[in-house]
Amino acid sequence: MPCTVVVGAQWGDEGKGKIVDALSARADVVARYQGGPNAGHSVIHRGETLVLHLVPSGILYEGRRCLIGNGVVIDPVRLREEVDQLEARGVPARAQLGVAPNAHLILPYHRAVEAVIERGAAAIGTTGRGIGGAYRDKVGRNGLRVADLFERAAFVEQVDRNLERLRHEYPEADFAGMTGASLHDALRGHVEWLEPLVCDVSSELFEALRANRRVLLEGAQGTLLDVDHGTYPYVTSSSASAAGGPLGVGLGPNVVDEVVGVTKAYTTRVGLGPFPTEMPEGEAAHLREAGEEYGATTGRPRRCGWLDMPALRYAARVNGLTQLVVTKLDVLDAFDEVRVAERYEIDGRVVVGFPTSARMLDRCRPVWRTFAGWKASTTSARRWVDLPANAKAYLEWIEREAGVRIVTVSVGASRESEVARD
Ligand code: IMP
Ligand code: MG
Repeated sequence: MPCTVVVGAQWGDEGKGKIVDALSARADVVARYQGGPNAGHSVIHRGETLVLHLVPSGILYEGRRCLIGNGVVIDPVRLREEVDQLEARGVPARAQLGVAPNAHLILPYHRAVEAVIERGAAAIGTTGRGIGGAYRDKVGRNGLRVADLFERAAFVEQVDRNLERLRHEYPEADFAGMTGASLHDALRGHVEWLEPLVCDVSSELFEALRANRRVLLEGAQGTLLDVDHGTYPYVTSSSASAAGGPLGVGLGPNVVDEVVGVTKAYTTRVGLGPFPTEMPEGEAAHLREAGEEYGATTGRPRRCGWLDMPALRYAARVNGLTQLVVTKLDVLDAFDEVRVAERYEIDGRVVVGFPTSARMLDRCRPVWRTFAGWKASTTSARRWVDLPANAKAYLEWIEREAGVRIVTVSVGASRESEVARD
């Protein structure tokens, strides 16, 4: 604080939602900076698990201002559904929420195109939410933004142009009944609903920081899914790493004071792509059940593996991490031993650093370090001294190797299940 970025240090699903929820207690404004409804942030509210996709995880704190920045891609239908669900549970989400006019829209043709791509050789196992198509249009300068919803004629014209192009490019895609006019008509109610939420996110955050208020920038996905720094092409289409924070809300990089990296005590990945520390399925099944590792957005079983130190060192560097949070330590409580990839080898030769090529990463074999398990429940630990000696040895080794101090360890899903470092 005053401006903290929270970023995933792995392939997403590190538990950022819970951490942002906790940090929101001390924040005035929370802003999402990239991604879209591909994200699934599980947070517990009055004993019930809520999954947030587009709305920042600060929403559950009364009065907390929550903003959706220009770097996010918004599906207006899903946004409204999510806000309605929160309102139905007594969270006054609409009153707290603001949306950037220059955030791009996900439209039905983005999903239709993605369905075709994911059936072919270029499939990467996306969430099917139309994320890639929306970002492709943004960079290709054909995109529609939130503000365009309020100018019907221009919206219709641009969508018709996009559909004409896409019908040529993807003749097998299902664009049935889609025209600029029909898509705008279908959104009419949503346009009216959205208009009062639109605000100048950049100015609002700038003024908040000038008034010494505390701002949290909330990332989705994770470093290894970042379009530049991730395991390309098996990535999402946005800047999930910390630099995407200021970029995706309209601020300069000098406003950021702290960069909090969130990592699980092990690793998971959803979708296709290299995963050097992945476990054989028998072992993975065990971890998956213990950690309830199923996608919060798609329900897909997550691929499971051990912690990957080359990847974590890399995440520390490309994000400029100043603090580390380790989540789901308790999931390892029953294991006899805990393994970590200390470094990689290819054909018996040491690999220095983290390869930028997915093909090379796929050839990397972990060199393991094994820690004795702690074989004791950590779920009720609240102070560092409460942790079993073997768990502390594991954590202290991780922070030494990553070069970033662990400030919090999460030992369960509830808000209280946290060990703060003294
Ligand atoms: P997309 O973001 O739907 O285009 O999917 C691209 C890749 O990112 C796929 O491997 C997805 O499984 C992965 N992905 C996207 N969002 C998340 C997330 O919130 N958690 C974990 N993986 C994600
Ligand atoms: Mg998730």
